[in-house]
Amino acid sequence: MAQDAMKEKVAEAALAYVEAGTIIGVGTGSTANKFIDALTAKKDAILGAVASSNATAERLTANGIRVIDLNQALREVASLAVYIDGADEFDPARCLTKGGGGALTREKIVAAAADRFVCIVDQSKQVQHLGAFPLPIEVIPMAEAPITTAVRQLGGEPRLREGFITDNGNIIIDVHGLVITDGLALEDQLNALPGVVTNGIFAHQRATVILMATPEGVVTL
Ligand code: 5RP
Repeated sequence: MAQDAMKEKVAEAALAYVEAGTIIGVGTGSTANKFIDALTAKKDAILGAVASSNATAERLTANGIRVIDLNQALREVASLAVYIDGADEFDPARCLTKGGGGALTREKIVAAAADRFVCIVDQSKQVQHLGAFPLPIEVIPMAEAPITTAVRQLGGEPRLREGFITDNGNIIIDVHGLVITDGLALEDQLNALPGVVTNGIFAHQRATVILMATPEGVVTL
């Protein structure tokens, strides 16, 4: 099965986690886009969706799905029922790296506001240790130089994502060459650097469930 078809299958499987009468969080990227398209069939059953990026908000709106600002949503409900999003990598502990699309900060905020995080991936995202996919860090522009230095001291090879500005008006530094064995510790260590908005390790906000598409079907991990 082609990768695109696998993304469609796993996006459809995620619909089983969408309960009527709830507000859900929706991620960003090509797999999340497939989910938005599948969600159109259930759009009248849910109260609406909180988007993790401007691009996702636009696609939800184009599909006739009500987009709700997170702060407004949390005045209507105590928490989002579920957050559904893709990932760049996942490890055996369901820790993730995310941010290939540059939406990591809003993705982490929405994931943290949800009761469950259902991560939808194809089998190419499965790894033993996170880090082969360059780790994105969203950085306030004036802090580029000190954070570049700090990342080198941690053993990574930082590269500015050229020509890219996040929805929040910041830059992304992609860190190559990491082998992440303690995701919780590195997530905290990077977030403690002044000027880091957030980094793409989702260990604190790891997936509750991973739905992984394979050529034989969707596997729940
Ligand atoms: C965007 C993300 C995406 O979830 C991640 O990049 C995976 O994208 P895709 O589904 O296109 O492979 O974190 O910031």
